[in-house]
Amino acid sequence: MEVIIRPDADSAAMLVARLVAARVRAKPDLVLGLATGRTMERVYDLLAAMGLDFSGCRSFNLDEYIGVPTEDEHSYRHYMDKHLFGRVNIKRSNTHVPDGMAPDLGAEAARYERLIREAEGIDLQLLGIGEDGHIGFNEPLSALMSRTRAKALTATTRQQNAAMFGGDADRVPARALTMGVGTILEARELLLLATGMAKAASLAKAVEGPITAMVSASALQLHPRCKVVLDRDAASALTQRDYYDWVFDNEPEWEGYRE
Ligand code: GLP
Repeated sequence: MEVIIRPDADSAAMLVARLVAARVRAKPDLVLGLATGRTMERVYDLLAAMGLDFSGCRSFNLDEYIGVPTEDEHSYRHYMDKHLFGRVNIKRSNTHVPDGMAPDLGAEAARYERLIREAEGIDLQLLGIGEDGHIGFNEPLSALMSRTRAKALTATTRQQNAAMFGGDADRVPARALTMGVGTILEARELLLLATGMAKAASLAKAVEGPITAMVSASALQLHPRCKVVLDRDAASALTQRDYYDWVFDNEPEWEGYRE
């Protein structure tokens, strides 16, 4: 795992957008794993402004609320159309979000896993982190080998996402379909972005704590190609910041990304 700390949320999002852009340019038929949430909005704004060619790319989103229709403004499909798909030249038929309205959620989860396999896996998976340490909607005690399935959301997560539902946590759906931790770990590269003080505690557990199903983001420590990009606030509870900064300032891989 590599941890990169940028001075503020904007420069952290810019670094993530530049890394995604580099992967899309290097492999025009890139299979992208995508994330939702407020943190990613800035990344998608930047990607949309870069004028990249997404026409050969395919995408798989991490998760979707159960029982929220696609056209509802709270659905993650709607979020993706608004923040990215509607602003770049990706083909809609190449974009995939789990169907939270499927009558048989088990069958939909299996179909989603099959689609990812048929695409020969995800090249680059974008991730955020929840205040309870989740990735996707893999709430505490999600098996580290879990696959796409329905998951009940914690009170912390529903509170965290209440702002999108008029501030009322009770209006946040109670369940979601999410890629499993095992599904996420199979992506060839992982890129997590976290900004703000609200993420500092869960981020420190994920990066420097023990690997545990209580913090599903800690499973990223198992992945051989995982980058974690933070602003100063999200990094504030880490103990090894000087080392992370030294690596970013000195390793040749980061030349051209430091400004
Ligand atoms: C939701 C998503 C997560 C995402 C999280 C972060 O819970 N299911 O995948 O990481 O939001 O949200 P935000 O960026 O709004 O803090």
